[in-house]
Amino acid sequence: MALALLAQAHGLHPAGWMKAPGATDGTNDIDYHVAMAQLAEKGKFDLFFIADTPAARTDNLDAWSRYIPYMNCLEPITLLTALAGHTSRIGLGGTASTSFYEPYNLARLYGSLDHISHGRAAWNVVTSGNNYAARNFGEDKLAPHARRYARAKEFVEIVKALWDTYDDDAVVFDKARGVYFDPAKFHVLDHQGEFFKMHSALNLARCPQGQPVIIQAGASDAGKELAAETAEVVFNSDDTPEAAKAYYDDVKGRMAKFGRTPDEIRVLAGLTPTIGESRWEAEDKHRTLQEMIHPLVGKIRVASDLEADVSDLDPDQPIPLDRIPKSANLHTRYFQQIVAMITEQKLTLRQLWQRYERGNKRVIGTPADVADAMEEWFSLGACDGYMVIFPTLPDGLEAFVAGVVPELQRRGLYKLDYEGTTLREHLGFRRPESRYARAGMKAAG
Ligand SMILES: Cc1cc2nc3c(=O)[nH]c(=O)nc-3n(C[C@H](O)[C@H](O)[C@H](O)COP(=O)(O)O)c2cc1C
Repeated sequence: MALALLAQAHGLHPAGWMKAPGATDGTNDIDYHVAMAQLAEKGKFDLFFIADTPAARTDNLDAWSRYIPYMNCLEPITLLTALAGHTSRIGLGGTASTSFYEPYNLARLYGSLDHISHGRAAWNVVTSGNNYAARNFGEDKLAPHARRYARAKEFVEIVKALWDTYDDDAVVFDKARGVYFDPAKFHVLDHQGEFFKMHSALNLARCPQGQPVIIQAGASDAGKELAAETAEVVFNSDDTPEAAKAYYDDVKGRMAKFGRTPDEIRVLAGLTPTIGESRWEAEDKHRTLQEMIHPLVGKIRVASDLEADVSDLDPDQPIPLDRIPKSANLHTRYFQQIVAMITEQKLTLRQLWQRYERGNKRVIGTPADVADAMEEWFSLGACDGYMVIFPTLPDGLEAFVAGVVPELQRRGLYKLDYEGTTLREHLGFRRPESRYARAGMKAAG
């Protein structure tokens, strides 16, 4: 079972930051993040992952001042690079948007992180899901979903080609001959596509993993296609085993047409555990947090994923069906889930914001309850592991490492220690050969 930690400073619950220990905000404190990464490494997590969007919200500040994820956060690649020096085994993954980066910058950044971390880097490919980001880059709103994914596909192809600029043995460092690298093993990319035109070579030797690990969380058709073609870790967010299994089979079933086999992707299901020494204690923690969601925050969360204004609605009435837009342009899956909850469960707006979890599997209970839930999905073949999304941090991670990890180990579901040193090794992947070496071998053979 593979495990990743979604490591936002105070956890993902909108009220999580109010439960942070002590009076000091650790958000911008590197020591706080180091302690969290080291704790995750103690728990043998495969991946420490930072989600991101390149934007603060610029309106509804009364609401966003109470709901802080992404309003104040360290830039992920900078943070991961700092963490690389304080950890030795755990994978270090972060999000960067194909809508707002250029492939060259991105290839350099993650390639460098892979060198600095000795082979532990991972890039989460996203097309971005909010218009605030678009407005930071000269646009009024995000490009249509299909267009963003078309750019993402071309973007990833270029990044992967750039990571192969140098063959593994290209840098000879031959002081006697005065030759630093072998020009025959250095490859210039000529690319002309719909979005990018490049005559380009990366000024960075091939990295320890060959290529950093690619993560994707596509939920739409286009997203799943991109995942099947390029991703190695896929995050899924479904809240029933049937839906998770269907997603798992769907993504893996699409891989063959890209010449890939199902074991080349690890699907990690989103898991939101609230852990207590007793079920009662866990439920009490959960209820307290849900009741702490300020109505302004509840409304803004619903509005963001429903892509509709709900600010004027009475929290204790159902959402009128005519508020539901015909289609989504931001996060398709979240939109579908929230629409289904509105239409099928007939919830009031308040019930909706208290129950909606962006599809993740919510478990509230003792360490054994959490391990049971994890074992169930895993043995059904609905996932290869979990992306653990704690409502509050660092206490959620502390309870998980102290209670759930030993329980999973006792059941033989989870490793007792890291076997390798790179993220690829933790995930059971081979190191990819350079495309040029591969082509050369074919030509010779
Ligand atoms: C665990 C997890 C982490 C994600 N992290 C990010 C992120 O950091 N930034 C982002 O813009 N989207 C993030 N997403 C959203 C996905 O990239 C994607 O937009 C979403 O699942 C909808 O898929 P679609 O774009 O194919 O409709 C994440 C999704 C999941 C399940």
